Parts: sequence; C-alpha cells; structure tokens
Amino acid sequence: MFEIKSKKCLNPTVTMMDIYAPNVAKKAKPGQFIILRVDSTGERIPLTIAGRDIDDGTVKIIFQIAGRTTFSLNQLNEGDFISDFVGPLGNPTKLDGFKKVCIVGGGVGCAIALPVAQQLYKNGCEVHSIIGFRNKDLVILEDEFKSVSSKLTLMTDDGSAGRKGVVTQPLKEAIDQGESYDEVIAIGPLVMMKFVAATTKPYNIKTTVSMNPIMIDGTGMCGGCRLTVGGETKFACVDGPDFDGFEVDFDEAMKRGSMYKDFERHAYDEQCNLFKKEVK
Ligand SMILES: Cc1cc2nc3c(=O)[nH]c(=O)nc-3n(C[C@H](O)[C@H](O)[C@H](O)COP(=O)(O)OP(=O)(O)OC[C@H]3O[C@@H](n4cnc5c(N)ncnc54)[C@H](O)[C@@H]3O)c2cc1C
Ligand code: FES
Repeated sequence: MFEIKSKKCLNPTVTMMDIYAPNVAKKAKPGQFIILRVDSTGERIPLTIAGRDIDDGTVKIIFQIAGRTTFSLNQLNEGDFISDFVGPLGNPTKLDGFKKVCIVGGGVGCAIALPVAQQLYKNGCEVHSIIGFRNKDLVILEDEFKSVSSKLTLMTDDGSAGRKGVVTQPLKEAIDQGESYDEVIAIGPLVMMKFVAATTKPYNIKTTVSMNPIMIDGTGMCGGCRLTVGGETKFACVDGPDFDGFEVDFDEAMKRGSMYKDFERHAYDEQCNLFKKEVK
C-alpha cells in the first residue's frame, strides 16, 4: 500500500499528490510514468512522474479528474493509501547536450512538461516555455515554469489570462524572429501536439512529443498503447512515451483515443452516483 503524503488542488479539475514510494522515487527520471490502482479491484491508469523527493521517498503526481479512476483518486486525502503504484516506466526524455529548447505545454500536459523544463534548466540549457489553457481558472504551475524559463508565454483560449490564442502563435513568432531552438518539446492534447509539429516542420526544428494512448500493462505485452510512428507500429509504454513529432500518425492516435468514450462516460457517471449515495 502507498500512502498519500500530501494533496493540493491546483484548479477545480487538477490535483497534485505526493505518494510515499521510495523505490520509485530513487530511480525516476523526467518523462517517465507510473501505473497505479486506487484499490485492488480498480482500473490501472498511467500518470507521469511530475517530480520526486529522494529524501522523503515521495513521488509527485498531477492529474486531471477525467473519469472514473481519477475521480476516485481525488476522493482520497492525505494519510489515505492507494493499493498499487508501479514504476518508473517508459523511457526518460533525452535532455543532454541542448543549448536552447522551447517547451510547449497544454492543459494538464504542463504537469508532464514541468520536470522536463526543470531538468533542462539544471543542465544549463536556456528554456523558453509556452503554456496554454482554456481560461484563467485552469492555469496551473505558472510560477514553477517562470522559475526555470528565461522566457515564459502564457496563452488562454479566451484571453482571460496572458495572451489570447493558441500556443502555436507565439511559437511561430519566436521562430520567425530568429530564435534558434535545438529542439521543441510539446506535451498536451493530441491536437495541440499535431499542430506544434506542423508549425516546426517547415523550419525543420527537431520536435519531440509525449504520447498518451490508453495503456493497460505498461510493459509492452498487451498492445493497447500501439501507435504508428514513421509507418511502423510502436508501443508508447516501452518505445516512448516520447516520439519524433514529424513521424507520429496523430489522426490515427486521436481515433484510437476516443474508441471507449461512451463506456468511459458511463463508468464516470456510475462512480459519481455511487459517491453521491455514500455522502447522503
Ligand atoms: C504515459 C501517460 C502519462 C499520463 N500522464 C498523465 C498525467 O500526468 N496527468 C494526467 O492527468 N493524465 C495523464 N495521463 C492520462 C491519464 O492516464 C488518463 O486521464 C486516465 O487514465 C483517465 O482515467 P479515468 O478512469 O479517470 O478516466 P476515463 O473516463 O477512463 O478516461 C478519460 C480519458 O482518459 C484516457 N484514458 C483512460 N484510461 C486510460 C488508460 N488506461 N491509459 C491511458 N489513458 C487512459 C482516455 O483518453 C480517456 O478518453 C497519462 C497517460 C499516459 C498514457
Ligand atoms: S500498455 Fe500494453 S503494450 Fe503498452
């Protein structure tokens, strides 16, 4: 069992937790993820390692309440336990040898992008960050990005915080103004990553994306997380989750990602109803 050492709501739909898991904390690197089950009958879900503290033995996760399992996880509090917490899984993001990198984060993808930005900063790389959200109430981790970025651009769809518009606008402007990035790393919704790759491709700037297809075992056995990358089948859990953004078949990934929408909606409604009955 794994104890929840701290819990903080970052916005109405995103929560941060520190979980006591010293063996995972010891080995975790930016870009890797864990798979957890809230209880012994629960579904397995992958979440990125958003940080770690080796001395305290804790691993930080930041999750959006997206459906049944994340809803159940969010019902737990400091001092509660979750039954399984396996990791670190996946390959760490390659971060050595860069002089200037632009990080593009969208929504809860910013939680995945932050440890990458922090590690680049530690490595002495100049970090420019562009983070985007639907509106001001959903903005997370702005200060954390500020502390590791020499340039931070905050975008919202409705202009209620930062600049109005999508993340690809300031990215294109920066490139057109002569910023020479060794790499652009984009982490967020599939559609955002698709358009970041489309923005950087004409300039041939290496662009890495972090893919988050449905995962079951996380060890390359079930095939659930398969993607087409450069015309070949890849498994995000063992070959990724980072891939060359120019090579990923995003349209196929989006189609596969929405395959279980009706089932997921039903499971979420069931869980919410169960919770409402329990608190009555
Ligand atoms: C490598 C990886 C890292 C991730 N890191 C984060 C993170 O740091 N923070 C975060 O908020 N989310 C992250 N996700 C997405 C997260 O796993 C899903 O939001 C979560 O599984 C939703 O489960 P649910 O039961 O609450 O919702 P559901 O209603 O079951 O699903 C909601 C949506 O979540 C996705 N999803 C559902 N089940 C899975 C699954 N087993 N594997 C992957 N995606 C699934 C689907 O796109 C689905 O449409 C990550 C996904 C992957 C693959
Ligand atoms: S999650 Fe099963 S192969 Fe990747």
